[in-house]
Amino acid sequence: MSIARVRGIELAYEVSGAGSPIVLLHGFPFNRTLWREQVEALSDRHRVITVDLRGHGETTATRDPATMEAMAGDVAALLDELHITRVALGGLSMGGYVALDFYRLFPERVAALVLADTRAQADTDEARLAREETATRALGEGMHTIAGAMLPKLLAPATHAERPEIVARVREMILNTDPQGAASALRGMAVRRDQTELLGEINCPTLILVGSLDQITPPADAERMHRGIRNSRLEVIAGAGHVSNLERPLEFNRALENFLREAEA
Ligand code: MLT
Repeated sequence: MSIARVRGIELAYEVSGAGSPIVLLHGFPFNRTLWREQVEALSDRHRVITVDLRGHGETTATRDPATMEAMAGDVAALLDELHITRVALGGLSMGGYVALDFYRLFPERVAALVLADTRAQADTDEARLAREETATRALGEGMHTIAGAMLPKLLAPATHAERPEIVARVREMILNTDPQGAASALRGMAVRRDQTELLGEINCPTLILVGSLDQITPPADAERMHRGIRNSRLEVIAGAGHVSNLERPLEFNRALENFLREAEA
């Protein structure tokens, strides 16, 4: 693990392998270990950079809302530190919100985009209220309550029934998240912009992935992004829930590797 001191925080990240660079951004409230199987699969052809987004993993938590824009700025500052100008950029869920904002702010730095189990729309008023309640509970009661509330929705029924090690790994990532980091990220997600109009401006090769059983950002959200982004491909991962890269790593990696090979050809 390495630390970059950028924009007033300590940003934890890891670099593996060599080749064209790809940055992978985790969802909420996870950390860079979410991508272990993708790092293994990609690092013989790529320089894979995984990051703990602000308030997650070993990166500093701030009291202010951790906006998607702030997180995207952190990633850009890290790339500056590493002297990398252009990358393939992938994000799952909240990581996808950050990837979209990164594209909005720094389109020239994105060679290819991977949007997994995420959406372009902003929160509804109801979702914003629910996020504030969850933030208050995270701060008051800690992450156990959050893990209990989130886990049933995060993973597909078959993952819960047959893959206890995946359930344990997701629970551990949630429990390892600083409650202040989680609260700030929830408040940041609540104020994120609607990116629907941005979709029409995205002109790099884009892969959209979604678990067929994703309850949080369902396939309909992925189809919407696919319709909006001209140069996009949609892959539905059969039987996966919201954390499709962990639940079905072989299928996820196959789609990702094929896409990256073609995007670079
Ligand atoms: C995530 O997995 O990053 C979050 O569930 C996304 C969200 O709450 O909108």
